[in-house]
Amino acid sequence: MKFFIDTANITQIKEAKDLGILDGVTTNPSLMAKEGIKGDDKIMEHYLKICAIVKGDVSAEVISTDYKSIIAEGKTLAALHPNIVVKVPMIKDGIKAIKYLSEQGIKTNCTLAFSAGQAILAAKAGATYISPFVGRVDDSNWDGIQLIAQIVQIYGIYGYPTQVLAASIRSSLHIVRCAEVGAHVVTCPLDAILGLLKHPLTDIGLEKFLSDFKKSQA
Ligand code: E4P
Repeated sequence: MKFFIDTANITQIKEAKDLGILDGVTTNPSLMAKEGIKGDDKIMEHYLKICAIVKGDVSAEVISTDYKSIIAEGKTLAALHPNIVVKVPMIKDGIKAIKYLSEQGIKTNCTLAFSAGQAILAAKAGATYISPFVGRVDDSNWDGIQLIAQIVQIYGIYGYPTQVLAASIRSSLHIVRCAEVGAHVVTCPLDAILGLLKHPLTDIGLEKFLSDFKKSQA
């Protein structure tokens, strides 16, 4: 399972990269706004900064919602760097644009997916990734992990090459559950990744090993 970090924060991207386990980055307009990145030039510059840090796919989301504009915006984003993946919303014009962009050899990430039906359409259109939002599905009293499992199963039956990129991850447990059901990628906040390191018995065990070592050297 690939690990992407779900942020536009350069410090956090560098920290995850330094761990040695980072395979890519996802951003969205909310995450860019959170970092105070405003204006086309600054936004493009920021994507390039991220691409220079991480050797892997970097999702950059379009803000257009009609076919022609999504394509124009997608082409501009894709031309920025070979690792840019054009993130397109799961809407009618989005699906049409994904079909066009994928036929042009441009990688796409179909975002804002909340159902298996939407995931089937994205795969049919040739999306590189489908992003079902696990946390937001949970928030609406449905089971986000069950949705990931359902999409993985359907893609497996038909051999769709579209990768299931579990998004809207809220916890380390979400990451483990996504791995259990066969997600190809998880995109997570830094805290959820770092949370995987933690176990109280590791801390207790390490303290004991180190204190026994000290005693043996006295
Ligand atoms: C990433 O691709 C999504 O935009 C993101 O994971 C959404 O996460 P949220 O539900 O925490 O905003």
